[in-house]
Amino acid sequence: MPFLKSILSALKPGIVQAEVAAPIPGYTLGKPSVARAPYSLDDLASLQKALLFSDEDVQALRQSAAILADQTDAILDVWYGFVASTPELVVFFGNTRTGAPDAGYLAAVRQRFARWILDTAEAKYDQAWLDYQYEIGLRHSKFKKNQTDQVQSTAQVNFRYIPALTIPITTTLKPFLAKHGAPAAEVEKMHAAWVKSVLLQAILWSQPYIREGEF
Ligand code: HEM
Repeated sequence: MPFLKSILSALKPGIVQAEVAAPIPGYTLGKPSVARAPYSLDDLASLQKALLFSDEDVQALRQSAAILADQTDAILDVWYGFVASTPELVVFFGNTRTGAPDAGYLAAVRQRFARWILDTAEAKYDQAWLDYQYEIGLRHSKFKKNQTDQVQSTAQVNFRYIPALTIPITTTLKPFLAKHGAPAAEVEKMHAAWVKSVLLQAILWSQPYIREGEF
C-alpha cells in the first residue's frame, strides 16, 4: 500500500487523500445509509439567520481549516482531557457492565471527531451535511447511541449537556486558532464563527430529543 500511495501521490496528490486514505469506521457523511433530515435547507438558512450566521462566518470558518488541519490531535487531547476529568460527562462513554470508561469506544469516536473538526471548518452546507447532522443527533440520543461502534454504554447522552459543551469546545479552541500567526482580529472572527457553528449543530442535533412538532 505505501508503494501504491507514493505512485498515486506522484500522479496527483488529491487522489491519495480521496481514494487511498483509510476510511474512518462509522463515518457515513454522504453515504446512502444516512436518513434524510426532518428539517430542510430552508430551515437551516432560517436558523442561520436567527444566529446572525453570515457569509463572513463561512469565510472565517474556511480560513480556520488550514490553521486547524495539522492540530486536530492536539485539540482532541484537550477536549478528551476535559471529558475524561469531568465525571458528569465521561459516564456517557462508560461500559455499563464494568462502569469504567470504554477505551475502544472513546478511540472510535475520536477518529470521527477529528473529521468533524475539518467538516465544521469546511462549512459546506449541502443536503448531505444536513442529513449527517440529523444522524449525529440520533447517535447522541436513545435512538442510535452505541450502535455505530457496537458498544454497551449509556442509552443516551442527556440532552442538557450537548449545548453546554459548546462553551468548553470553542473556548479551548481559541488558542489553536491563534497558533499560526493570524492577526488577533481574525482570530476573534474565526472564534465567533466557531461558536455560532457549534451552537447551530447542537441545535440541529436536538431534534430527536424534542417532541414531535415542537422542534
Ligand atoms: C457541542 C457539543 C458536542 C459536540 C460538538 C460533539 C461532537 C461529537 C461528534 C463529532 C461525534 C461523532 C459523530 C459521528 O459519529 O460521526 C460525537 C459522538 C459522541 N459524543 Fe458528542 N459532541 C457534543 C456533545 C457531547 C456530550 C455533552 C457528550 C457527553 C459526554 C458527548 C458524547 C458523545 C458520545 C458518547 C458519542 C458517541 C455516540 C455513538 O454511540 O455513536 N457528546 N460527538
